[in-house]
Amino acid sequence: MTTVGPVNRTNLRGARSGGGVGYSPCAFTGLANFTRQLNGSSQRDHTYRIIVRSAVEMLGLQGSWLMLVQHNGMLVKAGAFLPDGSEFREDLPGLEEATAQQLYQQVIHQEQALVIAPGSSPHRTAEHPAFHLAGDQALCLVPMKVARDPVGVLVLGARVNGKPNPFTMATFALANAIGQQAAIALYQFQLQREVERFRGEVVNSLLRVIEARDGEVGQHSTRLVKYSEMLARGLDCSEHEIQQVCWAALLHDIGKIAIPQDILHRRGPLTVEEWDQVRRHPDIGADIIDSVTGLGAVAEIVRAHHENYDGSGYPRQLAGEDIPLGARILAVVDSFIAMTEGRPYLPARSPEEAVVELARCSGSKYDPQVIRKFLTLMCDHLEECCCELHSLLPA
Ligand SMILES: [Fe+2]
Repeated sequence: MTTVGPVNRTNLRGARSGGGVGYSPCAFTGLANFTRQLNGSSQRDHTYRIIVRSAVEMLGLQGSWLMLVQHNGMLVKAGAFLPDGSEFREDLPGLEEATAQQLYQQVIHQEQALVIAPGSSPHRTAEHPAFHLAGDQALCLVPMKVARDPVGVLVLGARVNGKPNPFTMATFALANAIGQQAAIALYQFQLQREVERFRGEVVNSLLRVIEARDGEVGQHSTRLVKYSEMLARGLDCSEHEIQQVCWAALLHDIGKIAIPQDILHRRGPLTVEEWDQVRRHPDIGADIIDSVTGLGAVAEIVRAHHENYDGSGYPRQLAGEDIPLGARILAVVDSFIAMTEGRPYLPARSPEEAVVELARCSGSKYDPQVIRKFLTLMCDHLEECCCELHSLLPA
């Protein structure tokens, strides 16, 4: 088992005259349908499946899979399709081994397809164990790149049927077209992932600002994230909404950086003017977060995290479902954690006492639907929650 080598006109001449894997005369129609399906897919896994399945069916192959470039430059398998319905073998670590990685990088760097087939170029015999090919199989590695950005490699598998290279010139032309279309579709997901990663880094940077000022707020936020995620999930929020609630939980009090420490930590009563300052922190925090592209929904949760369900909260006296659900979730969890941790102006209560207080304020401070779910979840996880929260109580 050896490589035939990069695909060019010279080494394709023999393959073209010798025939090879199937080539449909309806290739252009197939390509148009393929592009239409890609454009209609917004789910990453669904897009992977469209690519590998279309490649197999349009080219009449034995199988196909994707190797996608990761953040660290390594390529990992992301999707596979075998026409006989058999599952792709997940136990093929060779696909991601160093030898295989070298070939993927070569294909991407040279922007040229590469065939690995039996019976030629004996000096490359070391490569085949990485791909686990049987004696009658050949692979074609098609580079996927958009401008200068590598996206991955589309791997095509075919039976050789006694020929040195089962991939004809027509097959290569179509395979490259499929690879190009696939690269553009996958690049969108790559960009989305980069944007999400960037947003996560911004959130972490903002969190470092909070922790640099007050470590207690950082620990408080971490606890808030855990309970907020549990509650958002219990209320059937989407993964995107859960992410927004978690980010809002982490950053909800960032606006307090604009409030003097002696006001925040004073054990005695605050003046009317000082309370006015404290009540500005949701707007200040929301304005900071809103300056980051894509965090607008997180900013609105933060802006509304002190609103009350009956309209008696601040800063805008929103009521009912005018308050974003994330803020209604955060209000319940923030109060529960604050009561059980205690504050300079509020002695810590037991989790049981805090739950009773939440239930008492259902419909006034808190959304009854959110309270109902929170109490249900607390009952389900009471032992675990109580152990954690009891440990916070002073001896
Ligand atoms: Fe707050």
